[in-house]
Amino acid sequence: TSPVRLALLGCGTVGSDVVRLLHEQSVDLAARIGAPLEIAGIAVRRVGRDRGDLPVDPALFTTDPLGLIKRDDVDVVVEMVGGIEPARSWLVEALRAGKSVVTANKALLAEDGATLHDAAAEGGADLYYEASVAGAIPLLRPLRESLHGDRINRVTGIVNGTTNFILSAMDATGAGFAEALEEATELGYAEADPTADVEGFDAAAKAAILASLAFHTRVTAADVHREGITEVTAADVASAKAMGCTIKLLCIAARGTDGRGETVSVRVHPAMIPLSHPLASVGDAFNAVFVEAEAAGQLMFYGRGAGGAPTASAVLGDVVAVARNRLAGVHAASESAYADLAVRPMGEA
Ligand code: HSE
Repeated sequence: TSPVRLALLGCGTVGSDVVRLLHEQSVDLAARIGAPLEIAGIAVRRVGRDRGDLPVDPALFTTDPLGLIKRDDVDVVVEMVGGIEPARSWLVEALRAGKSVVTANKALLAEDGATLHDAAAEGGADLYYEASVAGAIPLLRPLRESLHGDRINRVTGIVNGTTNFILSAMDATGAGFAEALEEATELGYAEADPTADVEGFDAAAKAAILASLAFHTRVTAADVHREGITEVTAADVASAKAMGCTIKLLCIAARGTDGRGETVSVRVHPAMIPLSHPLASVGDAFNAVFVEAEAAGQLMFYGRGAGGAPTASAVLGDVVAVARNRLAGVHAASESAYADLAVRPMGEA
């Protein structure tokens, strides 16, 4: 069988781990898919950069992502660059040309997922993005597929590892926010500029993606009410503790109703939860998402939400899925079908 050929966009932490996994597991992956996976090219900013012992032919690197995407021998585009533009233009180009897309780009999906879904429908192409929310945790496909026979009422999650590490440290040691943030930075959990994490922007983007899938509607990051953890004090954490609670940065997406029908509300804010709640024991930089569905009842998804290897695991799972679909000549139904909204974000006209 002829190989399924991949264009990788980006070769940073996640991209390098994808390359490594593709190399280490090539035989198993080929057996699972029914055809070998082959890297057609890797688009990067600088070709000459030292990439250590990355097991890949240096001739595959290119600084022309669009040229790579347009090549006839490319079947699947794997985007690990991030940001809105130029990633959106690249992926729309790929999808319209009928190429499958796997992306980890939560910012783009949360801001303008509709454009990607529409392009996927137009091109009859697969758009998979498991790695965009909660890293390695299988979560989006359960929402998109396994739970499609059910009605999801509520999704409550800890979807930002950095803030969970900070709040867990404050709870464990009695430290204040600034001190805990410093520790998170030293240990490499928090980035040099921690704004996106501590102000809740990262969690809000993930909440928008989760709510869109859970409720079959379009929720963007701008629809999410957002409050970060910078105002949480050692005294807040101590009084929560005295009440048998702990403070977590939660994303909460829930169904509701208003005068015009069904709505969804989506918010991200620090919340006090009783120690008996399953999310209370999620410590360190772990993520967990608690789903309440009509027939399935309560479900909890737990694991590593960040890091090169866990995120690469989610990317590769999607690559296997889209490669199999290509060989079978099928593609998953696009969420652009969600234009016939069952529910609408609160406040939308
Ligand atoms: N900064 C994010 C976190 C990384 O801390 O969870 C994963 O999106």
